Amino acid sequence: MSKEIVVSGIRSTGHLHLGNYFGAIQNYVMMQENYNCYFFVADYHSLTTHPDPKLLRPNVFRVLAENIASGLNPDKVTLYAQSDIPEIPELYLMLNMLAYKGELEKVPTFKDKVRQQPDNVNAGLLTYPVLMTADILIHKAVKVPVGKDQEQHLEMARNFAQRFNTRYGDFFPEPQVFRFNTDAVKIMSLDGNGKMSKSENANNTIYLSDDDDTIRKKIMKAKTDSGPTAPNAEMPGYIQNLFLLMQLTSTHEVYDHYRAAYNGCNIRYGDMKKQLAEDMAAFVRPIREHAAELQKDEESLGKILKAGAEKARASASATIAGARKLIGISYY
Ligand code: TYM
Repeated sequence: MSKEIVVSGIRSTGHLHLGNYFGAIQNYVMMQENYNCYFFVADYHSLTTHPDPKLLRPNVFRVLAENIASGLNPDKVTLYAQSDIPEIPELYLMLNMLAYKGELEKVPTFKDKVRQQPDNVNAGLLTYPVLMTADILIHKAVKVPVGKDQEQHLEMARNFAQRFNTRYGDFFPEPQVFRFNTDAVKIMSLDGNGKMSKSENANNTIYLSDDDDTIRKKIMKAKTDSGPTAPNAEMPGYIQNLFLLMQLTSTHEVYDHYRAAYNGCNIRYGDMKKQLAEDMAAFVRPIREHAAELQKDEESLGKILKAGAEKARASASATIAGARKLIGISYY
């Protein structure tokens, strides 16, 4: 039986963090054996914020190295840079004809960007979900492992796929969000304000490249309060986030111990954070060290991207040929 096709991407806009790891990469690693996986660095998507051209290459190599250091095996999955696949912008152009200004303007991530960068509300930002759809449909993927923040984009991808199929004939499957644990993981910033993110809030974000001391400092500064005042009290979001991180990195015993302390109103957040800091440092350390090692050998990383691009283009060109035919682009 042929394996189901999976696509996902990560923007090369900065250092990868725990949100990227637990929201996406952990699922990638778990999928690599049993699915036909295409994972890419979304360097075109990063251009919406006009990054310094000198930073593109190191950023792409870092994302690639951190993915491999997290456990992705380039022999098992296809790893490539989005910009190496010219069929993606071609499909993006085709899909743009089926995407409407009104619906794109309503997308919450677009509205956020308009607020964050009012001087640079470019068309690439507006059509960001269309490019994402092209990334997915170019391989006719059925499953897309992403964090909670990308779910709305996936819904749009299904709409665009459906619209194409209605107009030109059944061609694209409707891609679904996929994750192994049914709960969507959303890692919040350590100050409790919004999600952990690559570009904002460095002091409240734990990066896969952070050293042990930096991790300790950040976790010890994470927002807490004077503790629950009634047994089994509901947790505020920032405390929930610390427990989530503990659940993801500490042992069951440790997690259960602090959970019981919380429920019994005798939790000492200082002790909890000390424990979490040590467990987190131990968790990140091997990834950081392996990624640093890999980044020293750009030639090997380049070879991985090149081999990945060849495999990805084989699949992409078949899709584009089919789409052109259905649209009627066939002149000689
Ligand atoms: P990006 O680069 O912002 O994030 C990469 C992946 O990490 C997940 N993620 C999180 N999960 C949980 N908690 C967080 N705090 C957190 N922050 C990030 C994201 O959900 C994502 O899965 N538009 C995409 C990149 C992209 C893409 C695609 C993804 C481009 N084309 C096609 C899937 C399919 C993005 O900006 O992800």
